[in-house]
Amino acid sequence: MQWWRDAVFYQVYVPSFTDSDGDGIGDLQGIRGRLGYLELLGVDALWLSPIYASPMVDNGYDITDHRAVDPVWGDLDAVDELIADAHAHGIRVTVDLVPNHTSDQHPWFRAALASPTGSPERDRYHFRPGQGVGGAEPPNSWRSVFGGSAWTREPARDEGPGEWFLHLFSPAQPDLNWTNLEVWADLDKTLRFWLDRGVDGFRIDAAHGMCKQLDATPTSSDDDPRFDQDDVHDVHRMIRATLDHYPERVAIGAVGVRNAARFARYVRQDELHLAVDTQLAASRFDAEEVRAAIEDCLNAVGSVGAAASWLLSDHDVSRPASRYGAGPVGTARARAMALVQLALPGAAYLYNGDELGLPDADLPDEARRDAVWHHGEDSRDGCRVPQPWEADLPAYGFTTGEPWLPIPDDYALLGAAEQLEDTGSTLSLYRRALELRREHPGFAAPPLPGP
Ligand code: GLC
Repeated sequence: MQWWRDAVFYQVYVPSFTDSDGDGIGDLQGIRGRLGYLELLGVDALWLSPIYASPMVDNGYDITDHRAVDPVWGDLDAVDELIADAHAHGIRVTVDLVPNHTSDQHPWFRAALASPTGSPERDRYHFRPGQGVGGAEPPNSWRSVFGGSAWTREPARDEGPGEWFLHLFSPAQPDLNWTNLEVWADLDKTLRFWLDRGVDGFRIDAAHGMCKQLDATPTSSDDDPRFDQDDVHDVHRMIRATLDHYPERVAIGAVGVRNAARFARYVRQDELHLAVDTQLAASRFDAEEVRAAIEDCLNAVGSVGAAASWLLSDHDVSRPASRYGAGPVGTARARAMALVQLALPGAAYLYNGDELGLPDADLPDEARRDAVWHHGEDSRDGCRVPQPWEADLPAYGFTTGEPWLPIPDDYALLGAAEQLEDTGSTLSLYRRALELRREHPGFAAPPLPGP
């Protein structure tokens, strides 16, 4: 059964969903306590943001051990309990996987810094000598997605001046070298580790990353040697080959590429099961623009027999209720777009809090935590503020402590408990839309006949 082809996935941004132990940061037990809510909402599966050991420079997207749970979220027992309980509620559990980079505190990266130039320890990352006098300039002009150069120079070493290492995101997230077989073997081990524990699949972060053409000169202006290189498809075939040993598990990519034809390559029959479209989230509230994004994606995935997978927002972009306009106009448009999204053929991705119609929070600078903010870019904290559960409780029921990001006062009007009682609320609209999907199955396009 290809359950994912029309499934509704609910993204739990773990730090901001529910805190069970009063430290102000969401955790696994917190999610477990909300399964009743999620069942009532009517979602089919969860996508958990990274739960692995991490110094939290990028809220868990900087990982020191892909096969351990960070104590801030809980432990392996908590994962097992959450999976078992979620399954009992009829909800599957998928987890984030971050294969493009590790934390700079990962034992591999520490070993790399402590090892000589050209050593196997350094080969798991991308180290290069600098250019110019004394190697003081970065090896090339690549930019990091988070702003600034994609290269950072390591400190000088006994054997001579430091080299530079590549990081397409923050300097605390060095990129792995995907021409190194140890890197492949380690990912396979990670996949099996979580599959054996019973996860239903993976959301693969930056699935168009991993492989780069470090020494290539771009042949055209839209040819980006940092991303979407042909070799990355071999990585996805490896992931798929491993998943195929486990029935009904799914690999879903966050794929940001330059056009629909490139996008479709990621969901060929031996690669990802689904790739999450980003064009819909990037479209303005404009019928022609929305239609073009939808048709583009449907044509692309249809050409390879894959189902589409729609997303209006996630933890990286402005929330729909703010993005489409301020105040009641933004809310009305966000509600309309939710219905568009949920009426489309294929799978759908909901971001926690959007079902409550949360707007972005306007945070004072001193409260911002996002790694991007420290690099001078706009911070993504506004869409990551903790979820309001009950207006009358301290921190609206998110925590008994101090929430890690301040929750704005106007979230008091958007608590889940109050919205459940109100048939006109955004939450009731989402519930009804999900109910209609269940009453009218057949949202997924049929797969192409097999070879
Ligand atoms: C993805 C994540 C984002 C993270 C980045 C680096 O884009 O969605 O939150 O910062 O990867 O891991």
